[in-house]
Amino acid sequence: MKAIVVTDQAAGTAGMTLAERPEPQAAINDVVVGVHASGFTSGELTWPSTWTDRLDRDRTPSIPGQELAGVVTALGYGTRGLSAGQRVFGLTDSYRDGGLAEYVAIEARNLAPLPGDVDFTVGASLPMPGLTAWQGLFEHGRLQAGQSVLAHGAAGSVGSMVTQLAREAGAYVIGTGRAADRQKALDFGAQEFVDLDDDTLADVGGVDLVFDVIGGDIQKRSAGLIRAGGTLVTVAGPPEARPADGLAVDFVVESDRAQLGEIVQRVRDGRLRANIGNVATLDDAVAALNPTERISGQTIIRVRP
Ligand SMILES: NC(=O)c1ccc[n+]([C@@H]2O[C@H](COP(=O)([O-])OP(=O)(O)OC[C@H]3O[C@@H](n4cnc5c(N)ncnc54)[C@H](OP(=O)(O)O)[C@@H]3O)[C@@H](O)[C@H]2O)c1
Repeated sequence: MKAIVVTDQAAGTAGMTLAERPEPQAAINDVVVGVHASGFTSGELTWPSTWTDRLDRDRTPSIPGQELAGVVTALGYGTRGLSAGQRVFGLTDSYRDGGLAEYVAIEARNLAPLPGDVDFTVGASLPMPGLTAWQGLFEHGRLQAGQSVLAHGAAGSVGSMVTQLAREAGAYVIGTGRAADRQKALDFGAQEFVDLDDDTLADVGGVDLVFDVIGGDIQKRSAGLIRAGGTLVTVAGPPEARPADGLAVDFVVESDRAQLGEIVQRVRDGRLRANIGNVATLDDAVAALNPTERISGQTIIRVRP
């Protein structure tokens, strides 16, 4: 089968190549999915799980692209809950090969049914940002209606989901990002916007929850804005700062069938909008994932037409 592979961590996305790889087999509890569309998160090539297995052995060449949508083509021994021919979407285990390929083997529990009225391209764009936002806001951040959320990178993949889900939950959302993204963040539902280059972050006053996707100095400055009892939630690695009287939580997203169902239902009924900036074929994926100009929103690879 055709797949995008990486072998050299130092090369970053420039080291991606289109290669021929063996078709994966379904292990116990797995399904094989014929991939229709898949998404890639910029941080994947920095995560150790892309390069080594759980015993720290080299697992290259690896196939990146953790989020995908497609059709089940085979079931492994003992696999329950999904059928051959079923439309599915979900998030692969980061230690296994991903979805930038014609086929992927994935544990059935990491997938949810994809309703027939949701396009594969949209389905592939939801698992990573949707689950990250859901788990960060509701499981780790314990968001309540009436609280305020500082949503960093609010026009980006994760940030636009954070903004929409927090608004729906009854929060007041202050989005941040580049000056050029102000209108996009407001369109996703942010009630205020802070341009991180030109506005003063401290002017937002106190917030109950910071959802950090950037880290570094911006994370440190944000921690100081958190009210007593509030939470800094970050997906940019171990927190470098803590609120004076609150929690700091970093986490790595996990697939969750029930949460995928909640997310896709919101897309169907219009409460949630995908944030797709570019769609390319698998043949053009290396170029599309190495853009020469800034793309706002996700790049989705349409593996089958
Ligand atoms: N731990 C986990 O489970 C997990 C899950 C998902 C994602 N992540 C990580 O979360 C991060 C965000 O992912 P994403 O897919 O949402 O990326 P994304 O789509 O690129 O969104 C990030 C947004 O933040 C903006 N931004 C970044 N640095 C900024 C700065 N210094 N000032 C102003 N704006 C800035 C970006 O603008 P520009 O494009 O102009 O930089 C972009 O709009 C990545 O590092 C990813 O690896 C972690």
